[in-house]
Amino acid sequence: MEFEFCTPTRVIFGRGSEGRVGEIVSSYGYRRVLFVYGGGSVKKSGLYDRVCESLASNGISFSELSGVKPNPVLSLAKRGMALARETGAELILAVGGGSVIDTAKEIAIGALDGGEHWDFALGKRTPERALPVGVVLTISAAGSEMSSSAVLTNEEDGSKRGYNTPLHRPLFAICNPELTFTVDKYQTASGIVDILMHTLERYFAPVPDTEITDAIALALCREVVKAGRIAYENPQNYEARASLMWASSLSHNDLTGAGRFFAGTCHRLEHEMSAKYDVAHGAGLAVVFPAFAKYVYRLAPERFARFAREVFAVTLADDLVAAEQGIEILSSYFRSIGMPLTFGELGIPDPDILDMARRCSRDKTISLPSYIKIGYDEMLDIYRLML
Ligand code: NZQ
Ligand code: ZN
Repeated sequence: MEFEFCTPTRVIFGRGSEGRVGEIVSSYGYRRVLFVYGGGSVKKSGLYDRVCESLASNGISFSELSGVKPNPVLSLAKRGMALARETGAELILAVGGGSVIDTAKEIAIGALDGGEHWDFALGKRTPERALPVGVVLTISAAGSEMSSSAVLTNEEDGSKRGYNTPLHRPLFAICNPELTFTVDKYQTASGIVDILMHTLERYFAPVPDTEITDAIALALCREVVKAGRIAYENPQNYEARASLMWASSLSHNDLTGAGRFFAGTCHRLEHEMSAKYDVAHGAGLAVVFPAFAKYVYRLAPERFARFAREVFAVTLADDLVAAEQGIEILSSYFRSIGMPLTFGELGIPDPDILDMARRCSRDKTISLPSYIKIGYDEMLDIYRLML
């Protein structure tokens, strides 16, 4: 496929880099910031104090929006938009993970727009301008620190929607792997799955082979599996945490999509689950992907076999058998890092799969791209494989 690749986010990576946040904001000439963060992890770790001090010592004034929850909601983003307008914020500073960054991205657009914000998610309007967003990343997972998308849940109708725009790409992302030492095992594992999935959604998009991109994608998956295992066992291993953090950014900044596209099939199926049952996005994907893979691999056995051989060193000559073994090994890997593989294990004993398939197919009007079209009936089939 033809493609355009533009990933303008400046990445500042390494130990202690969060101490430079004030200097970096100031280098762009910004003086007033809206500081957005989540529950309590930034206060507990002392990061909040370090960021405040760095901003203050560089002469940057700031107001705050706290309380962003995982699976972030539109209403809080709207409060942030009003606050950004009232305080004349020139930059939205997200200190956290995907949920905080996505909230900041929507504030950055909504602060300059008077209309109904959800229109953008519904595709009724396209945003034309945004305030800049800066990031101090605290968890390796969503890749929002470099991505062109943001995802919110609208509590009014329970829908979780994302949309893409170049305006969503942050101006800078400060990435210190040490900040992720405190991420617990479950969130670490959810992040590992999400990182893998951002590349796999592109690798398994129905497009012919793209050699350079495929080689990058498979190497990234191999390293994430390896580093993931180490970080899961030893949360303070800097090298492993660093690999995951850089992979988080590269997996969703479109590098592994050059010449391909983000199919998003598993993501869309999962977003219905996290919208309805408020589960961790990555954990939901651990349930979706094996079911999806079992549903479609016979339609592209060579692609699945290559994944098995290059990521998990499967040596079987027959493509179909190698493909099956690759899916099995990946599932066992998910299990070995404490991830669920069924709805029940995810904490949803009685999932309303009819409603989720209906919502995901927008009342049976759309299908998702894969080796076959995934419409309402296929969505139901895949959800059934997760029971
Ligand atoms: O709120 P706090 O107290 O900070 O706790 C968070 C939260 O409970 C905690 N955490 C984060 N950093 C920590 C930490 N705990 C201890 N130490 C730290 N250093 O981790 C929990 C999860 O945080 P969250 O931001 O929700 O995680 P993640 O980065 O996985 O983001 C998930 C959200 O991003 C969306 C997902 O759908 C979900 O809503 N996505 C966004 C994408 C994008 N914008 O490009 C792409 C993804 O596919 C995804 O859909
Ligand atoms: Zn994701």
